[in-house]
Amino acid sequence: MKPQIKSVQASKLTLDKKNANRGTARGRALLDKSLQEFGAGRSILVDRHGAVIAGNKTLQQARAAGHKDVLVVQSDGSKLIAVQRTDLDIKDPKARALAIADNRVAELDLEWDADILAELEKEIDLAPFFEDDELAELLRAGGEEGDATAAAVSLAEKFIVPPFSVLNAREGWWQDRKRAWLSLGIKSEVGRGENLLKLSETLLEPDPKKRARLKALAPGGQSLSPKKGESASLKGGLTHRTSIHPYDGGNSDAGQTGTSIFDPVLCELAYRWFTPEGAFILDPFCGGSVRGIVAAKLGRSYRGLDLRPEQIHANMEQGAAICPGVKGLHWIVGDSRDIAKSCKGLSADFIFSCPPYADLEVYSDDPRDLSTLEYPQFLKAYRDIIAGSCSLLKKDRFACFVVGDVRGKKGQYYNFVSDTISAFRDAGLGLYNEAILVTAVGSLSLRAGRTFSASRKLGKTHQNILVFIKGDWRRATEACGKIETALPDEIAGALPTITGSDPASKFGEVLQ
Ligand SMILES: C[S@@+](CC[C@H](N)C(=O)[O-])C[C@H]1O[C@@H](n2cnc3c(N)ncnc32)[C@H](O)[C@@H]1O
Repeated sequence: MKPQIKSVQASKLTLDKKNANRGTARGRALLDKSLQEFGAGRSILVDRHGAVIAGNKTLQQARAAGHKDVLVVQSDGSKLIAVQRTDLDIKDPKARALAIADNRVAELDLEWDADILAELEKEIDLAPFFEDDELAELLRAGGEEGDATAAAVSLAEKFIVPPFSVLNAREGWWQDRKRAWLSLGIKSEVGRGENLLKLSETLLEPDPKKRARLKALAPGGQSLSPKKGESASLKGGLTHRTSIHPYDGGNSDAGQTGTSIFDPVLCELAYRWFTPEGAFILDPFCGGSVRGIVAAKLGRSYRGLDLRPEQIHANMEQGAAICPGVKGLHWIVGDSRDIAKSCKGLSADFIFSCPPYADLEVYSDDPRDLSTLEYPQFLKAYRDIIAGSCSLLKKDRFACFVVGDVRGKKGQYYNFVSDTISAFRDAGLGLYNEAILVTAVGSLSLRAGRTFSASRKLGKTHQNILVFIKGDWRRATEACGKIETALPDEIAGALPTITGSDPASKFGEVLQ
């Protein structure tokens, strides 16, 4: 568009009723002095109807100073517009003083109007302009705390669940949403052996005779010997396990069967909060199918690696049944120590995984399986895999690992959470968020009393969600775009109408 210039009466331009800057007396005085002494400097900005977008105070002061007409330059924003003052030379003291006045007026004349900001927050995303704590401070400065429930509901509407550092998977709405996801037919436990804790004991038994005996008694009658041509790994195992998975505290959704799955709601939150639609997600320890299927249903691409072919086959079957014809959903058999090589040329928007928690569960008797290793060897391989995965992550992007600490033979924690943080840091990423996922108590109540009396060990009902940043968090946030909250229709249709639809229920515990 060719810029056009016309003269408009100053009184015809309208001030913005929702201007979030109150202005200050000092600022106004300096603006007045500047207009009188130096004349009009920088332009103001109006919309197509002559309503002021920026420069309300300048227009007011100019009118007061007797400016009857305003020169309006019409533009579609494709060209920067410069006001050229033909009477000024930058070398002149007057021009220098105007430069200072211009900056100083902007500085002195700014006082945010908390009420208007609170109103605007409902219409537009203010995150690019303020840090969270800055905005919270400004809104508090408004004097009125407002209705905490309403604020919480608004957070839930915007982000699915308030983005606090404690996420409570015990709440009814979470469980409802999880059930809705599972109604797709996700069976993440398929491909994993039954009773992995029992299996751990079997595979880690140092005495070969005892080990052979335990193997013969393997849960579910599985044979642990590999098929010809298959790397040493579990066969079959399309069974429900009964052990306590570190992830869901033993009280999985399937409850009675003890079936363990990665929480699809947590997965949804991670994808929606830290990736845009179309993002490519890389998962070096994919295990079951959940993270891949949720990615596909939310319009993201996904590549999950796992050492065990039977797990990958089971995931592919699930993927074909639940997401037929979807492109960009890949599960690959492989040792993730080689991830930098095997995925060479790929660049991920998000690294997301739930690794083996040292030897808490043992997934196979493949010596390359990290869960079979003593902690020092485990840690070395684990660090290599994190470094390899992070080398495939684009700059200015997030990564997230869901972990939980594990006790070693002496009953002390390995410090696995901190070791994970160190591994990411050494791979060049910074720790950006640390959140606690509160998991269901389930059968822990039955065991915790005896354990605590005998050992003073607390019953663990949480996991640690670690979010890392590679590069600049501002650019990473920008790359994530707007957060969508609506579930795909096929999943939303399965949400119960009573508990699941009330966003206020997400705050039951937070607000008390
Ligand atoms: C904690 S499990 C993942 C379980 C997953 N969170 C779920 O809910 O299904 C870790 C996975 O890492 C895999 N794994 C172990 N060592 C590996 C390696 N060197 N390369 C790739 N995958 C490996 C195991 O086979 C196992 O499936």
